[in-house]
Amino acid sequence: MIHEHMFTEKYRPKSLKEVIGGDEIRGLYEGIINDPWTLPNILLSTRSAGTGKTSIAKAIIADIGADSLFLNASDDRGINTIREQVKEFAMTQGFTRNIPKVVHLDEADGLTKEAQESLRSIMERYSSNCRFIFTCNNESKIIEPIKSRCIQISLNKPPKDKIHERLRFIVDQESMNIKDEEIDDIIEFFYPDIRLMINEIEYLKTFGKSNRRNIADEVYALLKKRKFTEARKLWIAEQTSPRLLVKEIFTRLMSDDTLSKEQVVMGVEYVAETDFRIAMGSDAEITLANLTIKLVSAVFK
Ligand SMILES: Nc1ncnc2c1ncn2[C@@H]1O[C@H](COP(=O)(O)OP(=O)(O)OP(=O)(O)O)[C@@H](O)[C@H]1O
Ligand SMILES: [Mg+2]
Repeated sequence: MIHEHMFTEKYRPKSLKEVIGGDEIRGLYEGIINDPWTLPNILLSTRSAGTGKTSIAKAIIADIGADSLFLNASDDRGINTIREQVKEFAMTQGFTRNIPKVVHLDEADGLTKEAQESLRSIMERYSSNCRFIFTCNNESKIIEPIKSRCIQISLNKPPKDKIHERLRFIVDQESMNIKDEEIDDIIEFFYPDIRLMINEIEYLKTFGKSNRRNIADEVYALLKKRKFTEARKLWIAEQTSPRLLVKEIFTRLMSDDTLSKEQVVMGVEYVAETDFRIAMGSDAEITLANLTIKLVSAVFK
């Protein structure tokens, strides 16, 4: 479970104009705003979490004012869900009839192959009134027939100066007293994950201290003492982001001179595997637990 704090929703871009980066899609944007029927089916991907895939899809839908159906594919993976919900939505007449309806399939790489297969015909059948936007981390899990029905857009990492402007805006809105250098530190630390940066700002406001160092030191120390259960209790109690903790464990492994070279190599391999699996959509809380068990049983033994 990745904790979604309030600020990330409060400051989710309401329009593509507020989105940081996303230049790859802006070429299409003007045309879509002028004539929403020019909206193509889109497959939007990046390997980096928290950089705006879901936000961009939602922003486009909001900007054209389309009726939309949001499906998070990793919750509703099955073929029946797709058939029933998409069909029903596509078939019924919307009240905004002069613009296409949009089905947003978030985390579409979590869809089963069968579900994707069943979408092929649905996409075609309702192409006269419906468009599809797929967002995902791993476009290699999307079947070719769907790709060929979409414009594929792969997003680059958002530029740091623009992130700085956005974080400055949030900090000012929240009447927080944070210097530019501190904002830069937050960006460096979490880059490119803007969600984690905004979570950090919320944490600073709520608890008056950073979430970057404090818990990680304690968790790492407990793991070295092979106290897995206590470590887990701590990160859960403190609502620490699993992804953040993985990064923190990595930093500590790299600078821990009490470990042998072999221990560091093995530990970093586990961390890299965890990072990859989370990026590919595995449940972060479970994956983190798996990493820490491996560290306790194989690295810190
Ligand atoms: N490019 C961006 N511009 C503005 N805000 C952003 C951007 N990317 C992320 N955010 C902020 O972070 C939050 C999470 O972003 P979003 O859900 O769009 O990320 P994502 O790329 O879909 O992540 P995931 O890979 O975890 O699905 C947003 O609600 C918003 O507050
Ligand atoms: Mg997303």
